[in-house]
Amino acid sequence: MDSVQDVQVLPESNDFQELLQSLPCERGAIFHPLHFYKGIWYRAHVLEAAMAFQQHFQARVTDIILATAPKSGTTWLKSLVFAITHRSQYTVTDKSHPLLTTNPHGVVPFLEIIYRNNKFPDLTSTPPPRIYATHVPYSMLPESVKTSKCHIIYLCRNPKDIFVSMWHFGNVVPAENFPSLQSINIEESFERFCKGIEMFGPCWEQALEYWKMSVEKPEEILFLKFEDLKADINSQLKRIAEHLGCPFSSEEQNGGVIEDIANLCSFEHLRNLEVNKTGKLFFSQVVENNVFFRKGEVGDWMNILTPSMAEKLDQVVKHKLHGSGLTLN
Ligand code: A3P
Repeated sequence: MDSVQDVQVLPESNDFQELLQSLPCERGAIFHPLHFYKGIWYRAHVLEAAMAFQQHFQARVTDIILATAPKSGTTWLKSLVFAITHRSQYTVTDKSHPLLTTNPHGVVPFLEIIYRNNKFPDLTSTPPPRIYATHVPYSMLPESVKTSKCHIIYLCRNPKDIFVSMWHFGNVVPAENFPSLQSINIEESFERFCKGIEMFGPCWEQALEYWKMSVEKPEEILFLKFEDLKADINSQLKRIAEHLGCPFSSEEQNGGVIEDIANLCSFEHLRNLEVNKTGKLFFSQVVENNVFFRKGEVGDWMNILTPSMAEKLDQVVKHKLHGSGLTLN
């Protein structure tokens, strides 16, 4: 569980290069360039990895797939699901709990990153439950994920807070680590975000797709909101554990296990761990763990967006979600 993995990035194939040339390409809200494939904007190497993951990943019924848009609380969800599913192996107050020494991204890997490093990774020896994360839309998930009846958990967040979180991310990560990060002013970045041109965007399209699937297949897909986790983490932890088929026993509930997990994975606790203050991860570039812990609040957009910006994005999202039963505000 080393936080920095030394990886070799595979050369892109000619077929993929041809596909890439044929796709619309734009400057995104934060990243540049982005390529538009089947309704979603990707960075080139991420699209290539997502396609490999879609073609080759073989899901098992015991797998757990965590799906999110970037900056919607992926790090938090990873820690919660890892803590819930490993609670018989590591009691939450265990001094050797992996989350005390490993960033959540080190215990739950992204499939896009696994398949970026190796198009045919051997994942067969990973013991169940295998927990993976992804930012791809439901339609890009491998057929085996859709048919295996494995558990999917989708976490969404208010797009205004996603934008603000992304904007800050783009400003704190050193450009030499992410050459594709660009310096554009917040107004221009926001305009692009409202058009959905952001990594894995539009985030509201992605949320809507997972929402519809969660209504259709509630036993397979659990749909969560960042704001609900913040409002009442204990009842959301119960929902997650029930969905995963490992509900908290009354003994656990009386013994405070739910509260212990909430505390272990709380923003304050994770942010202040040495590993998350000073450690580093290798995504497509080196990223310091501390960038995943900024404020962890609901409504920070109010400090950044003008009322007219907020109104504009609200209207875009409201229009898109109209009649679906889903709200993201
Ligand atoms: P902010 O930038 O608004 O603070 P992701 O993990 O998908 O990259 O999302 C990052 C966002 O989740 C950041 O939001 C980060 O601070 C917040 N976050 C990370 N860990 C959290 C936790 N344990 N509890 C609440 N929010 C958390």
